[in-house]
This record gives sequence, C-alpha cells and structure tokens, in this order.
Amino acid sequence: MEVVPRGSAEDVAALAADTIEAAVRARPATVLGLATGSTPLLTYQELIRRHRAGAGPSYDEVRCFTLDEYVGLPPGHPESYRATIARELTDPLGIPPERVQGPDPDGAGLPTAGERYEAALVAAGGVDVQVLGIGTDGHLAFNEPGSSLASLTRLKTLTEQTRQDNARFFGSVDAVPRHVLTQGLGTILRARHLLLLATGAAKAEAVAAAVEGPLSASCPASVVQLHPHASVLVDPEAATGLA
Ligand code: F6R
Repeated sequence: MEVVPRGSAEDVAALAADTIEAAVRARPATVLGLATGSTPLLTYQELIRRHRAGAGPSYDEVRCFTLDEYVGLPPGHPESYRATIARELTDPLGIPPERVQGPDPDGAGLPTAGERYEAALVAAGGVDVQVLGIGTDGHLAFNEPGSSLASLTRLKTLTEQTRQDNARFFGSVDAVPRHVLTQGLGTILRARHLLLLATGAAKAEAVAAAVEGPLSASCPASVVQLHPHASVLVDPEAATGLA
C-alpha cells in the first residue's frame, strides 16, 4: 500500500484520471471497478473533460463493474447506482449499458444476487483498477464496521449513520433504502489495483485509521493494508490525521 499526498482535491482527481487512462491505454479491454458517491466525481468529470477534448484513450472495449446497489428502488430510479454511474461517467464516455454491470437486486432473485455477481466478476477476468471512496466510519463500499475481511458480495443493512450521510441524495433520510447489495471486502481485495480516493477534513479520521491503525473489521477500509497494489490518494485536509 502507498499513501500519495496531493496538493488539492483537483490534484487527486488528475492523478486518479491519469492512472485510469494509463490502464486503459495499456490494455483497451480494461475492467474498471467504479465507486459512486461524491468523492470520485471530480475524477469522473476530469475523465469526461479529457474524452470530450479528444485527449483520452478509447473506451470501446472497457467494461465496468459497480461496487454496490440499493435494494428496493424502482428500476431506473435516478439515485440507483446503475443510473448514477451511467449519468456521471459511462454514458458521457460512450460506454454502453451492456458493458456496465452492478449487483442486481431485481433479476433472478435476491438471495443468489451476490453469487451471480461474483461469477460475473470472475467471468470478466477480475477488476483491473478499482476506484474506491471511504465512509466517515471507515466503510468501504457498503461494508460497515464489523464486516468480515473475507466477505464476498452479499445483502447488507445500512447503518443509521450511512443512511443519514446519504439522505442528501434522496431529500430525506426516510427515503433512503435500508438494504443494499455490496461487494465484500474479499471481493474488493481481488482487484489488481485499488485506487482509494479521500478528500476533505471529514475523512481525516477514517483515513488515519485505515492506513495507520490496526488491520481490523472495526475499520473496513484498513483492508487496503493487505493489498499488494493499493494507492491511497489524499488531499491536504484528508491527510491531517496522518503521522
Ligand atoms: C459508493 C460507496 C461508498 C462511498 C463512501 C464515501 O459506491 O461504495 O462506500 O465510497 O460512502 O462516499 P462519499 O464519496 O460520498 O463521501
């Protein structure tokens, strides 16, 4: 694992975009793992800006897998992670919906949705570059504190804290779904390169616990310490808790 301090959130986004583009240039059929949430937005906007300027790589063969999905939203709901990632990244890059997959809460049955998603990830050859954000409580994807470090994709119940954190996307906390399908920590560790992005003072404590604290299920993001190729990109505010 490496911690990479950058001068600003924009610099974090520029380096993350450089890393993703380099992977796609090296292997046009790169498999990208995509987080939603606020943190990767600057990175996604930078990739789109470069693509529109004709300076990006070709995304013609790229495949994408999202980290997680809400359970119980009507299909096509604008806050579903499938709709969100299409709007914020893959549609503007010209990556068609059939090359973007997420855990499926509606398809052939919720109890087997995790297994089906794991099988799809394996069939695609695994994720090459996995973009990650970190929750204020140290969660990774929707693996809340206490999640098994070896967990695979499965159904989870959101904590009240995370529902409060995500209420801003739904107008009120009552509208935030209670359940999600999420890649497990073990799933995330299978990706070949982890790109954990953290910006802003609210993430400082979680970043310090993840990279300098003990490896522990109480801070799920601490699994990045186990990964042979994990890059933690931080802006000055997110780095304030680091030694
Ligand atoms: C999103 C996800 C979450 C977020 C985390 C941070 O797919 O899996 O773990 O990365 O909640 O969210 P933001 O970036 O909005 O602070």
